[in-house]
Amino acid sequence: MIVLGLETSCDETASAVVDAERGILSNIVLSQLEEHRPYGGVVPEIAARSHLTFIDRLITQAMAEAKITFADLDGVAATGGPGLIGGVIVGTMSAKAIALARNIPFLAVNHLEAHALTARLTDRVAFPYLLLLASGGHCQLLAVEGVGTYRRLGSTIDDAVGEAFDKVAKMLGLGYPGGPAIEQAALSGDARRFALPRPMKGKPGCDFSFSGLKTAVRQAAENLPSGPFAPQDLADLAASFQQAVVESIASRVNNALKAFSASHPQGKTLVVAGGVAANRALRGALQELAEQAGLSFVAPPHALCTDNAAMVAWAGIERLRLGLIDPLDFKPRPRWPLEEGLSRSAIPAITMS
Ligand code: KG4
Ligand code: ZN
Repeated sequence: MIVLGLETSCDETASAVVDAERGILSNIVLSQLEEHRPYGGVVPEIAARSHLTFIDRLITQAMAEAKITFADLDGVAATGGPGLIGGVIVGTMSAKAIALARNIPFLAVNHLEAHALTARLTDRVAFPYLLLLASGGHCQLLAVEGVGTYRRLGSTIDDAVGEAFDKVAKMLGLGYPGGPAIEQAALSGDARRFALPRPMKGKPGCDFSFSGLKTAVRQAAENLPSGPFAPQDLADLAASFQQAVVESIASRVNNALKAFSASHPQGKTLVVAGGVAANRALRGALQELAEQAGLSFVAPPHALCTDNAAMVAWAGIERLRLGLIDPLDFKPRPRWPLEEGLSRSAIPAITMS
């Protein structure tokens, strides 16, 4: 079984071919970073136009690198939401066109589901598992019970964690995207220099909050001597912020591990996904927590944690195997909570052939 996947929900145009034996036959990601950098964040209109400009040649390239033709495809999957709607329309329209022309199944993949299932592509992780999804747009803890069955244990009540990294980096003049810049600056910083809050730490439940921490960083920065930031001040502030984020997340994951182990005693794995999963301080803390709880820890390689189309193609394969294909009048969804799972208008594969 071979599936072509397309990802266009944010600022990466991506196309990949994956097979059911977990072979990634091609995986191409075209970042729009340079187009958005002058604005310090993603501009939806620019993103949509760029997806439209590049999607066709990315598909051609992914097919060529995989050394297959459209006749070899068993399905075509595209991110159907949630995300910036202009981009999602470009991806789903392209996938539907191929599905219609080749008379093969179309699969509308929830972007969060694609992140959630990546660990099964890379590490064959068995259901159920506990997932921390930490990206620029999302921060959630989910019990992943099966394809289409996700139970949310907690989510952010304000900013997503990657968004907090990006906003703090912008505040400190470290550029966009902020996560890698803060991690780099923190390497030479003292994480104890600034006493920043650890939002939600020690509180019951698994929800996150980062906006108070962001404000505290702003206040700490304002109290520094005026003028451009001194490199050591910047490094210490970055390190203190990163440490506060890690401790805050660790507290929430710790509660989630307890709740997950009680409700899913057969669960053996803690998985992290999303762009923030690249952060080494966070990975280290999660690894430790998983070990303490007697679970193994899986973090997919960085290139498959950030937005990519291999994860979309793989989610397509998982859904196709269950006959969960989508009609060609599927409407792209700017919002699409994962818990809706199987309740959408999925129809058995047999009616499409
Ligand atoms: O998953 P992703 O590529 O796109 C979304 O779906 O949001 O995540 C991008 C986010 C950005 O906010 C970026 O700053 C953050 O992931 N990020 C990091 C690191 N690398 C990327 N955050 C912390 N540390 C990193 N090393
Ligand atoms: Zn993402």
